[in-house]
Amino acid sequence: MAAATSPMRLSPEWFGSLAALLLLLWVPFGAPPARADDLADRRRQMVEGQIRARGVEDARVLAAMEKVPRHLFVPETVRAQAYDDYPLPIGENQTISQPYIVALMTSLLALDGDDRVLEIGTGSGYQAAVLGEIAADVFSVEILDALSQRARETLSGLGYRNVRLRVGDGFAGWPEEAPFDAIVVTAAPPRVPQPLLDQLKVGGRLVIPVGRFFQDLLVYTKTANGVEKRNVIPVRFVPMTGEVQNGTPKNR
Ligand SMILES: C[S@@+](CC[C@H](N)C(=O)[O-])C[C@H]1O[C@@H](n2cnc3c(N)ncnc32)[C@H](O)[C@@H]1O
Repeated sequence: MAAATSPMRLSPEWFGSLAALLLLLWVPFGAPPARADDLADRRRQMVEGQIRARGVEDARVLAAMEKVPRHLFVPETVRAQAYDDYPLPIGENQTISQPYIVALMTSLLALDGDDRVLEIGTGSGYQAAVLGEIAADVFSVEILDALSQRARETLSGLGYRNVRLRVGDGFAGWPEEAPFDAIVVTAAPPRVPQPLLDQLKVGGRLVIPVGRFFQDLLVYTKTANGVEKRNVIPVRFVPMTGEVQNGTPKNR
């Protein structure tokens, strides 16, 4: 007569070994990379929920924000948050701006597709890529060599041939390439650098956060007789460093 079999009992140790085995298999491969269509979905949600919902309507800007792979411009440690509604660290104590602020500043430049645009504060290169989608030529100056080098690699890896980078103090603008149709500054000086106003074409727009702790996002439009100034919203940017910190406030 066959002996009766009792149901197999799995000990806690057995579960522990299984968990350890699964962990061993998981760790070398890491979490699975996000799929391209998931990332495209997240960009669409970012545009609808964070940007269009707050009133940015320029179709070129919305299309550029939906296209540029923001996650490739941030360090891997924060990549999962690339499409969230806040700024992120990019190293060297600097940040990539919140997606809405990038979109708002780009829309305030009122680009029409033929423009030559100067950016001060390349950072990760993300804003430069968004500009590169819309403008004919983009020139971007960054004071920190390490950030500029990394931005150069990211932008060239993505094939942006109409974006040129330079390391230097953006206070001086980029006189050899002036005049510009539009200039955007992504670090806050305590006062507007006069060379940037000088390097605008008549009709050109300068979008710039100005102030020390309390900052305002300002738009200057150059006219035949001088400049017109418009205050858009209060903002909080990293300070512009270099020559502008040595002078006395004027031009506000
Ligand atoms: C908010 S971050 C820029 C974000 C960037 N536009 C992006 O898309 O990642 C500001 C950048 O301005 C740079 N910066 C600060 N002062 C500068 C100056 N005088 N000239 C050029 N770049 C400057 C900082 O090093 C920093 O990378």
